Amino acid sequence: MLQGKNVVLGVTGGIAAYKACEIISGLKKIGANIDVIMTRSATEFITPYTFQSLTGNPAIVNMFQSPKYWDMEHISLAQKSDILLVAPATANIIGKVAAGIADDMLSTTIMASNRPVVFAPAMNTKMYENPAVQQNIQTLIKRGYHIIPPKGGILACGDEGQGKLQEVSVILEELQKIYRQELQGERKDLAGIRFLVTAGPTREIIDPVRFLSNHSTGKMGYEIAEAIVARGGEVKLISGPSSLSAPKGADFLSVETAEEMFEAVKDAYPKADVLIKSAAVSDYRPKIREAQKVKKESREGEIQLTLVRNPDILLEMGKIKAPGKIHVGFAAETEKIIEHSKEKIQRKNLDFIVANDVTEEGAGFAHSTNIVYFIDQNGEYSKTEKVEKSAIAHEILDRVLEKKFPADK
Ligand code: C5P
Repeated sequence: MLQGKNVVLGVTGGIAAYKACEIISGLKKIGANIDVIMTRSATEFITPYTFQSLTGNPAIVNMFQSPKYWDMEHISLAQKSDILLVAPATANIIGKVAAGIADDMLSTTIMASNRPVVFAPAMNTKMYENPAVQQNIQTLIKRGYHIIPPKGGILACGDEGQGKLQEVSVILEELQKIYRQELQGERKDLAGIRFLVTAGPTREIIDPVRFLSNHSTGKMGYEIAEAIVARGGEVKLISGPSSLSAPKGADFLSVETAEEMFEAVKDAYPKADVLIKSAAVSDYRPKIREAQKVKKESREGEIQLTLVRNPDILLEMGKIKAPGKIHVGFAAETEKIIEHSKEKIQRKNLDFIVANDVTEEGAGFAHSTNIVYFIDQNGEYSKTEKVEKSAIAHEILDRVLEKKFPADK
């Protein structure tokens, strides 16, 4: 998403200033061009030369220092940038921008920018909780600035609480998401289309304390639901157990077992135009669900767990697929991806399949990235690069649109 784009990174004077180096290396891996603007106090923690060496661009501190750049630098960087990130953001820069003060290069550039500006605050817990800071953050949010909240933990000063700079990987992911949402904010191309999306694993109950499940986190399906909302579509998200929070704007239903998911999908299907089944449904469940905890003391030696087949939801829905509806399946394969997927498209009556080779680095479960093949009914396929799951979500939706309105293409 940010490949070839210009990111202005504002670094302010907090102990987490050194983490800006890690952010730069992450941005460089993505292929972004980075210009660093530091506040005077940031230079007490880290030198401009460090950033200059890492980015290959001069790190700017003083508005009036460099004769080559000084005159219109704040305007030119504000215009050149595709997105601005302030990380770490101190209470001071947050307060200045909230109050409209522009007295150094960073605050001036932020004020002169019409691009998305993202703040990743980091400060002492008591400072962060201070009502003035909280109110300033609210002011920024109301004005359309973005905040990546700090996380909790033991801070550099020894205090414990919220105030640590968010994980760099989270900052990078959020930054890309914000950039994409800004780009697609105006694109409401899914308006009027109703989606039914499943996500996450299922849990198959053994007894009141045990279950069978898999490594699915639900991320892919949640990203799809978020992307649908961003593009103006309607979405019902039926999710197995996941630690992710329900996407804003989605009609969310949480289920536990494959059988519960099947019932929920059947209920919601008549109101959907598109079914996207990204859930990693357990193919089997224990034949007997024990009412009481299985005690080792009550059974000698080995025990047997008999499994029975769960309904294949996608297969069953494929049998009653209504004309005009679009069904998208997922496949996690370890070999013969194309061959297996082609067979699955026919058997499950799908429009296309999103398949990944879970043995590939950076693909499949529990990764924020994925590498997928899009395989069509006629066997044609294309493979993506290793990209964020959010980017894949949008590509899936683009393909749904192509299927729905082929004459337009
Ligand atoms: O056959 P396989 O499990 O590889 O197919 C994967 C696809 O089928 C996914 O889209 C998954 O959500 C769906 N599926 C299902 N019910 C099952 C197993 C898989 O809907 N019991």
